[in-house]
Amino acid sequence: MAYRVIQWGTGAVGVETLAATLDDRPDLELVGVRVYSDAKNGVDVGELLGRAPIGVRATTDVQAILDLQADCVVYTPRVTNLDDVCALLAGGKNVVTTAFLFHPQRMPEHDRDRLLAACAAGGTSVHGSGLNPGNLSGALPLALSGMSRRIDKITLQERADWSDYDSTHITFDNMSFGRPVNEIGVGTTEFLAFNNELFTEQVWLLADALGADIDEVTSSVEAVAARHDHQIFDHVLEAGTTAGQRWNWVGVRDGEPLVEIETLWTVGNEYPDHWPRPKHGWTLTIEGDPSMQTHFFALASFTREATMAEHVRAANVATAMQVLNAVPAVCEAEPGFATLATLPLIRSHTGFRRR
Ligand SMILES: NC(=O)c1ccc[n+]([C@@H]2O[C@H](COP(=O)([O-])OP(=O)(O)OC[C@H]3O[C@@H](n4cnc5c(N)ncnc54)[C@H](OP(=O)(O)O)[C@@H]3O)[C@@H](O)[C@H]2O)c1
Repeated sequence: MAYRVIQWGTGAVGVETLAATLDDRPDLELVGVRVYSDAKNGVDVGELLGRAPIGVRATTDVQAILDLQADCVVYTPRVTNLDDVCALLAGGKNVVTTAFLFHPQRMPEHDRDRLLAACAAGGTSVHGSGLNPGNLSGALPLALSGMSRRIDKITLQERADWSDYDSTHITFDNMSFGRPVNEIGVGTTEFLAFNNELFTEQVWLLADALGADIDEVTSSVEAVAARHDHQIFDHVLEAGTTAGQRWNWVGVRDGEPLVEIETLWTVGNEYPDHWPRPKHGWTLTIEGDPSMQTHFFALASFTREATMAEHVRAANVATAMQVLNAVPAVCEAEPGFATLATLPLIRSHTGFRRR
């Protein structure tokens, strides 16, 4: 029997989970879609994806979504609403999400208790994952650590120029690119504080899963101003405003850095001379015995020509598939939190399917 799935949010990630649910997953049945914009309200989901109608209409009506019978909600909104997530869980719907909950053990106690109570009431589980935070900051380092005798330090660096990322809501409105540099700080906006929390949790996840016994995770950010104006889709990123953000989250034990996530982000691709220069993508380094390094990069293809837009989309596909592929495992998990450290290895069950 197929798992009945609701898609919550149809942004860059949501359209990928949606399309894959319809096209690639005979074991998943789409029963509802939650949208936010009035323009999408009532529109057939097939039409939202630019294809023939499928008989399921998107809705902005949360109660209508809560009233549906479903096994799992693929929750990919821009901003998390804990009331909504708790209502879904308490109503018997499991949740997989790219938006939050990457290491629930370390989330604020009040929020954690609310989520656990909702899971207990509904007999459900909830799982946060994706690309990074997600596979690259959790599953991959844990998998490599299986070859370690001694670990001195784990470092994950993410280098990305976001100029071609068409979700300018995220780059400009959320991440504050194009804002004055003095507005960029660990807690200066609600979203930056939220983002800081997400990556802090990732450091704790690795440290806890590997028994590093760290004392704290420190956070810092350096914002760098653009030297020139840049046209980024319908936004102008003006010279003098934020065009680079270098974030460091460091898990420290007895003053020694043991686990670090560093992000080197630009919009406009003016790469600061004084920043480290890993290759674009993600570089994972485990210093120890043995010392290991691996570089990850997601593209539309390594063998055929593809447009920049297709390449950019590849990271959204990876993010989306990491949670969509987790749906059966999360539906079968014990009620409560399902994490990268507790779930079985999430793999593609249909990747090689004949099409
Ligand atoms: N873990 C990872 O690796 C990873 C990677 C990328 C993104 N993410 C996260 O995944 C989520 C989706 O990312 P995305 O790239 O798909 O974002 P996006 O393209 O900006 O899509 C945003 C979604 O949010 C909805 N939205 C509109 N107004 C909203 C509001 N007031 N509150 C909440 N949601 C609202 C939109 O509704 P409509 O459906 O009406 O358009 C759309 O579905 C974000 O939380 C992002 O941070 C995680």
